[in-house]
Amino acid sequence: MGKGNKKNILVTGGAGFIGSHVVRHFVQNYQDYHVYNIDALTYAGNLENLKDIEDQTNYTFIKGDITEDDFLTKLFSENEFDGVIHLAAESHVDRSISDPLSFVKTNVLGTVNLLNQSVKIANKNPDFRFYHVSTDEVYGALGNSGLFTESTPYSPNSPYSASKASSDHFVRAYGETYGLPFVISNCSNNYGPNHFPEKLIPLFINNIIQNKALPVYGDGNYTRDWLYVKDHAKAIDLVFHRGTNGETYNIGGFNEWKNIDLVMLLCKLMDKKLGRTEGVSEELITFVKDRPGHDLRYAIDASKINTQLGWEPSVTFEQGLELTIDWYFDNQEWLNHVTSGDYKEYYKKQYL
Ligand code: NAD
Ligand code: TYD
Repeated sequence: MGKGNKKNILVTGGAGFIGSHVVRHFVQNYQDYHVYNIDALTYAGNLENLKDIEDQTNYTFIKGDITEDDFLTKLFSENEFDGVIHLAAESHVDRSISDPLSFVKTNVLGTVNLLNQSVKIANKNPDFRFYHVSTDEVYGALGNSGLFTESTPYSPNSPYSASKASSDHFVRAYGETYGLPFVISNCSNNYGPNHFPEKLIPLFINNIIQNKALPVYGDGNYTRDWLYVKDHAKAIDLVFHRGTNGETYNIGGFNEWKNIDLVMLLCKLMDKKLGRTEGVSEELITFVKDRPGHDLRYAIDASKINTQLGWEPSVTFEQGLELTIDWYFDNQEWLNHVTSGDYKEYYKKQYL
């Protein structure tokens, strides 16, 4: 038990897209927890994502890199954590193709460093739990039918998914070998506020606003299953509190879209939002060279988390997309900062 009889929960990667929603969810919903957010503030981490909660008394941010063992040893010796929710990662498939080693470093080595610290705590605290937030991309690619279940064999195709599959395996191995209590969830593609504009949906929203080309890879006939990020945060809460040790939970939106159909819908919603004639944004679509090793289709069978933990998405895709578009329109300053790098200078002054 942490200071002041509060439970200490460590969230890694809490300044990133999903991590910031998880941190906010736990800080706002669990006054009896103290939430520690550690993040290296890479290009993808941005403390502006958490501006609204940074002064909460049950929240602490610590800048640090999970690949640095000395940093983690000090952090874990100074704080008695009751649980770790691990999201810190390099997360973009295209970057993993041009720089695989940085994915091995953070996603594999960083995870193993955290596991080593967690085993020591778990030996003293029987209620301790390590939660690895992972991706459905570890299962590889589906054909035109079928769904990923928790027993689908791992078959990663990109350096990103190979690094996440590896870290999943290490988590399971630490459970078997050292008795570490753990849970893993494998989630489909997220979208929503605070998404760095290199992934499909935020990149295309930003490009439409700026009248730039929309680069659709290949013929656009690739399928993803999209989930609103706040619904993922709620699922993480349920798995963390009510999931069974040693188990994996698939999380998905029951919401498959071919890329090209999604892009057409986005263009239509953006035309409406911008007061443009319908069809204007569509003209920005440009078919470009395909991504190497591009997985054809991801789709999740989320019936386990649905029946065992009672989770289901709370918003439809159309509602979630409208909320997301509105957020990007209301947060142009955020978009300018993350794309210019200014924010890093601003926060460096406060945290370095
Ligand atoms: P993100 O890239 O937006 O955020 C990652 C965060 O990790 C950033 O804040 C970054 O600064 C931090 N980080 C990176 N390297 C670090 C290091 N060495 N030490 C400490 N912090 C470091 O990623 P995201 O989209 O929010 O994804 C979060 C997690 O969820 C990842 O583990 C990812 O694999 C998983 N996931 C993502 C999706 C998705 O659709 N985005 C879906 C399923 C699972
Ligand atoms: P992305 O958002 O990178 O997520 P992931 O690769 O993890 O699924 O890409 C989603 C889909 O959109 C994927 O099929 C690749 C495609 N895509 C494009 O067609 N153009 C782009 O510019 C990007 C970033 C992605």
